Amino acid sequence: MSIQNFEFYNPTRIVFGQNTIKKLDYLIPKNAKVLITIGGGSVRKNGTLIEVQKALGTRHVEVFEGIEANPLYETLMKAVEKIRHENFDFVLGVGGGSVMDGTKFIAGSVHYAGDPWQLVLDCGKDINKVVPFGFVLTLPATGSEMNANAVISRKTTEDKLPIKNELLYPIFSILDPTKTFSLPKRQIANGIIDAFVHTVEQYLTYPVNALVQDRFAEGILLTLIEEGHKTFIQPEDYESRANFVWAATMALNGLIGAGVPEDWATHMIGHELTILYGLDHGQTLAIILPSVLQEMRQDKREKLIQYGKRVWGLSGHNDEKIIDDAIVKTREFFESFGVKTYLHEYNIDKSAVDKVAEQLKRHHMTALGERKNITPDVSYRIVQASL
Ligand code: NZQ
Ligand code: ZN
Repeated sequence: MSIQNFEFYNPTRIVFGQNTIKKLDYLIPKNAKVLITIGGGSVRKNGTLIEVQKALGTRHVEVFEGIEANPLYETLMKAVEKIRHENFDFVLGVGGGSVMDGTKFIAGSVHYAGDPWQLVLDCGKDINKVVPFGFVLTLPATGSEMNANAVISRKTTEDKLPIKNELLYPIFSILDPTKTFSLPKRQIANGIIDAFVHTVEQYLTYPVNALVQDRFAEGILLTLIEEGHKTFIQPEDYESRANFVWAATMALNGLIGAGVPEDWATHMIGHELTILYGLDHGQTLAIILPSVLQEMRQDKREKLIQYGKRVWGLSGHNDEKIIDDAIVKTREFFESFGVKTYLHEYNIDKSAVDKVAEQLKRHHMTALGERKNITPDVSYRIVQASL
């Protein structure tokens, strides 16, 4: 197998480092009417919002507050209406993945003539014009700051669905690691796990002799393993936090996924757990990934051995033992941040198995994984093994 043909395109300008929020002044047109989008208020409490407002100087600026974790269509539509009626011409998301994803949906919906939920049902492909938008990141995890994806939920219909469109790359993202110092431990843990699993979903598939992508992916995983605990225990240590922030961005900006097979089964099953039970995105990944690796260990055999040796430093001639140990190490890594990796630990019982399988069918997630052989039956076994 050789590396697949690919195109790599990523137009997002990254502005990285301390004291970089002031650069908003040249990143956003002087005459722009700016709508700042934020979540539940963390950026008010930690001073990021006021710094952003100052940097925008005399521009007309308003704030849209209340984008929830796992952003809801219903909430986002209020911002869409506001932009339509009041003619904002720039949207600035200040927050984590939910604010960034929500802002992408908002920016892509304003000019759409039909019901924007249709854009979600069509996976984002019908978005053909966006209101210009950029981000100030406050939570390293999703990579949304440098990719063209978003995940949007609708409570009434129990849907949490991904969209993707080249127009959804932000024009810029400011990554000031000090703006993430105020994160609660739970969110740091979620972020480390999310970035880790993004990397695994693009790396732990089958070999295609993509040497650069493999080494980059292993570099991200090793960085998360080596710096993860430091930044978890000492959130204000700039060095380790800065490395974590950049690792999370690089984990899902297209670079390590270029020309290689991609899995994403853990994510798609995880999304169903979030919409059904309200689990955090990172928690769902910590629960599902070990079961996916176990269930698919034959399909992923060569890469699991490579992962065990190069990432976890395992050795010996017994390949089955290396695979076993690699899966155990992965689970232990998640648990070392206090994240539980079984459904029963979140008081979720075996009725989840059928429910998740039904949701996956309803959402046409019936051929998941790098070989498209994770059918609803296989997903059923994966959730069952996660109880
Ligand atoms: O809402 P506020 O008050 O801002 O609080 C948030 C929220 O409660 C808080 N927070 C964020 N920055 C903070 C902070 N608290 C203190 N200090 C700060 N500096 O953290 C909580 C969680 O925020 P959220 O944005 O929901 O977390 P995350 O960044 O993990 O985003 C999760 C969402 O991203 C989607 C997930 O499905 C989920 O909806 N994903 C998006 C992806 C993408 N666009 O490529 C890929 C991912 O796989 C993921 O699916
Ligand atoms: Zn994720």
